[in-house]
Amino acid sequence: MARTPIIAGNWKMNKMPDEADAFVRELTPLIATWDNVERVVAPTFLALSAVASALRDAPIKVAAQDAHWEANGAYTAQVSAAMLAPYVEYVIIGHSECRAYLGESDENVNRKAQAILAAGLKSIIAVGESLAQNETGETVPFVRSQVRAALDGIAPGYMANVVIAYEPIWAIGSGKSASGELADNIIKTAVRDTLADLYGRDIAAAVRIQYGGSVKPANMEEFMAQPNIDGALVGGASLDVDDFAALVDIASRVKGR
Ligand code: PGA
Repeated sequence: MARTPIIAGNWKMNKMPDEADAFVRELTPLIATWDNVERVVAPTFLALSAVASALRDAPIKVAAQDAHWEANGAYTAQVSAAMLAPYVEYVIIGHSECRAYLGESDENVNRKAQAILAAGLKSIIAVGESLAQNETGETVPFVRSQVRAALDGIAPGYMANVVIAYEPIWAIGSGKSASGELADNIIKTAVRDTLADLYGRDIAAAVRIQYGGSVKPANMEEFMAQPNIDGALVGGASLDVDDFAALVDIASRVKGR
């Protein structure tokens, strides 16, 4: 099944609105023609409005880095999916930094997924194991449990709007990436096979699954050459215009549809 690769830049807590605006104006002409790759940037909440207006007519989509599951109310510091809807097409949830530093639980990831999809948005749901889990051979059962928990109660009809990002925690921001083959194997056995158990083979074959964790131009081709990897969720390298453009170029060349 042909799956359009998706490259998403997760800017984390970087770039003020004016910097984000200047960045996407510089990036757009560099990657505008690679239509066989879906291109996404995820600025901070503060920069979403500026980036969404800068990209209004550009073929680059905007993502938020989180959303609360309620539409509004007494939830200090939160932003709801409904509030994000005018600005974004995607919302990233379940990132390991939110799980580690902000107490994000599987249950909350699931609530957020439900709210995001119900608001008509798409979600990039991040999963991945720690170094300790990796070293003790728990990766596959742990990632499977994260995927199952995140998708609990999500109807099959919504799965076209779901992207899963497999990001081994030990590879994020560390400069140490998994090998392409290893990542592909985990993505196949822990993510795609779990999707098949939950939704059947056709949906499992259609859902896009990204790899994330120290992706850069130098290792992008290795990931893109894998049969089960449909793009990348990129932190550090997505903050550099030339690196971001190079990642999209490689994805387009190796597996663009
Ligand atoms: P990194 O981050 O590319 O800097 O490792 C990836 C991520 O956290 O999504």
